[in-house]
Amino acid sequence: MVDEQALLRGLKRRSLALVGVPKWYWGRTLESIPTENPSVAEMRRALTKYLEARQWTTGKGLYIFGDSECYKTYGVCALAQAIIHASLETSVRFVRWFELLDLAGRKEDDHAYWVMETLRGCDVLIVDDVGSEPVTAREQAYVQRTLFRLVDQRGSDVKATIYTSNFDLDHLSALLDAVRAMDEGDEEMARPIPKIANRIRRTCAEIGVWEVRP
Ligand SMILES: Nc1ncnc2c1ncn2[C@@H]1O[C@H](COP(=O)(O)OP(=O)(O)O)[C@@H](O)[C@H]1O
Ligand SMILES: [Mg+2]
Repeated sequence: MVDEQALLRGLKRRSLALVGVPKWYWGRTLESIPTENPSVAEMRRALTKYLEARQWTTGKGLYIFGDSECYKTYGVCALAQAIIHASLETSVRFVRWFELLDLAGRKEDDHAYWVMETLRGCDVLIVDDVGSEPVTAREQAYVQRTLFRLVDQRGSDVKATIYTSNFDLDHLSALLDAVRAMDEGDEEMARPIPKIANRIRRTCAEIGVWEVRP
């Protein structure tokens, strides 16, 4: 006989693995974010408001930045699970920055292309730890263009993107959109590189979290 509860638990785990939520954050809730730090408490309130107002349905995203260990990843993972719980038909994906960089740099790789398509197309995309790794000089323009296309298309399709980062958007802009020396003989790279951070700013509310308030 099938144990329905065990089956449901298994399905739940499987779906969280497919969404990409890292295991340590499975089952975390917004309510379980500790509130001793006022800055973290404020982030928790903002995430709760986002959830209650179903703001992802309007394409509005969040850019959560600040110190490490301030429950940023915890918060967005709890939010992802709460969104799935609130609306099963909403497709949610979680990707770490370094995975995204890797995917964005894999030219003519069908698997990478397919994964990027699912990230472009899902209703809510969470990108964790943006800027934690630099875009390396090699292939920089190609990676920047692929990332810009992801951010830009999601914006025009009114699909919400939620970011966490240790950098505010000005710093991120300096990291991602830095003027790049043109690689010789590459026509594609000769075109100006669009500003990724500007697009993020246009679609996201910014939330800062600090260990000690500055
Ligand atoms: N795998 C883990 N094992 C134990 N504690 C963890 C783990 N991942 C995160 N934590 C703890 O959870 C809290 C929140 O972490 P996290 O949300 O990852 O911080 P941030 O993303 O802001 O750097 C921190 O106190 C951190 O030490
Ligand atoms: Mg984190």
